[in-house]
Amino acid sequence: MLKASLALDPQLVVADVRRRTFGSFVEHMGRCVYTGIFEPGHATADEVGHRSDVLELTRELGVTMVRYPGGNFVSGYRWEDGVGPVEQRPTRLDAAWHSLETNAHGIGEFVDWARKAGVEVNYAVNLGTRGVQEAVDVLEYANHPSGTYWSDLRAAHGHRAPFDIKLWCLGNEMDGPWQTGHKTAYEYGRLAAETARAMRQIQPDLELVACGSSGSGMPTFGAWEATVLEEAYDQVDFISAHAYYNESTAGDLGSFLASALDMEAVIANVVATADHIGAKRGDRKRINLSFDEWNVWYQDDLEVPTEWLRAPRLAEDVHNLADAVVVGSLLITLLRNSDRVTAACQAQLVNSLGILRSEPGGPAWRQASFHPFAQASRFARGRVLQAEPVSPVYDTAQYGPASLVHAVATHDPESDDVTIFAVNRHQQDDVALSIGTRALPEHRVVEQLVLDGDPRACNTQEQTERVFPRRADAAEPAPGGLEVALSPVSWNVIRLRRDPAPGTARG
Ligand code: AHR
Repeated sequence: MLKASLALDPQLVVADVRRRTFGSFVEHMGRCVYTGIFEPGHATADEVGHRSDVLELTRELGVTMVRYPGGNFVSGYRWEDGVGPVEQRPTRLDAAWHSLETNAHGIGEFVDWARKAGVEVNYAVNLGTRGVQEAVDVLEYANHPSGTYWSDLRAAHGHRAPFDIKLWCLGNEMDGPWQTGHKTAYEYGRLAAETARAMRQIQPDLELVACGSSGSGMPTFGAWEATVLEEAYDQVDFISAHAYYNESTAGDLGSFLASALDMEAVIANVVATADHIGAKRGDRKRINLSFDEWNVWYQDDLEVPTEWLRAPRLAEDVHNLADAVVVGSLLITLLRNSDRVTAACQAQLVNSLGILRSEPGGPAWRQASFHPFAQASRFARGRVLQAEPVSPVYDTAQYGPASLVHAVATHDPESDDVTIFAVNRHQQDDVALSIGTRALPEHRVVEQLVLDGDPRACNTQEQTERVFPRRADAAEPAPGGLEVALSPVSWNVIRLRRDPAPGTARG
């Protein structure tokens, strides 16, 4: 039997678990908004037109923050088109996704939806075709209490109370030549700095995200972040990172299951670049990462229709168990880096790249990847521990040696509960994970939840629960702790609770 170990010590802490780690992303792309979160006339639609079935699954998913309205979409977007009486809103060409945008859903509807979902809004402004003025206009519309043109217009549109949006993205992927209004790092850095300065003149306590690279494969990766931060260091709080993974690009399942090694490297490189700029400036301020697009995405399969259609089916990937295990492993990586990755958005929420799926006039359901996200959001509480698994390694064609077991542990000082999130990347064999509990002698495993089975199994409209977590057998006592079995290609949640054995005196 293959063996790995993980020693737990609640005194050794990386950082608090950041609730913003469990963010998601709703873009006007394909059917994420239209027939995703919003479908007037659907049997479950509320008075605004939001689908209650999708809302319910969003709450169950445990999403804490949602980025809106794009993505590539935002770089050609006029936010004013999406406010006021719906019948007067213009239909526009959305060049990013070659679609027709009716503007039936805009910032007001999104804030309504976010309140119903119980999530924080992360709003992106257009720095592709627009600039400083439109950014401060939308800020005034959203957050100013009253007595000005834009704030009174918001009230006239039925939203008397300000939206109170704290977290703002200064554009999207401006390094990408595909981006409408693509810029050089210097051009974007200057624009981001001036937009941020103007927005803070209106509201100083905003939290602002500058665009980092759209991917680590970009030829400007690293240099882009450095130049942007040279220009905007004082004005921003975050630099963004984006990463998508899939088995086809990885080349083989073993490499794909190790995708988190790439995410780990992206984080290390962006942090190093940001800190280098901080060091050169002699600045004590630290720029953190907003990993505001990450997921499994079979990008090469993307087919954008040549006709101009409303809400076409775009990037409706079906996630299998292996995809879900990779999603779990990416979440483990984000949690392990909670000292510097303080916000993140799984991209996207529904249909296009979605962790949820919905059919027009039909049901909504959970993709396989739903489960690691929902469980991590639910059980990662308190603090992330410095706990490094000691694991056998295997060779991957893409990344070289990779640990079979990838894991992170959290400890909640209030309840004293500990949770371990662990992935086994072995394709055939169990790995026995021994959990060192010398620093937590009264803790016992109360539950092990497992997502495993056929790596190719997925959830579909016909079979919505084929990939579903199961409870595993109880842990076995082992020298210095406990032992659990991790099945091949599996995601595991191991929950420990303080439970003195009968007769054990409490200190
Ligand atoms: O999430 C899909 C797209 O991926 C986004 O619009 C863009 O920012 C990224 O390239």
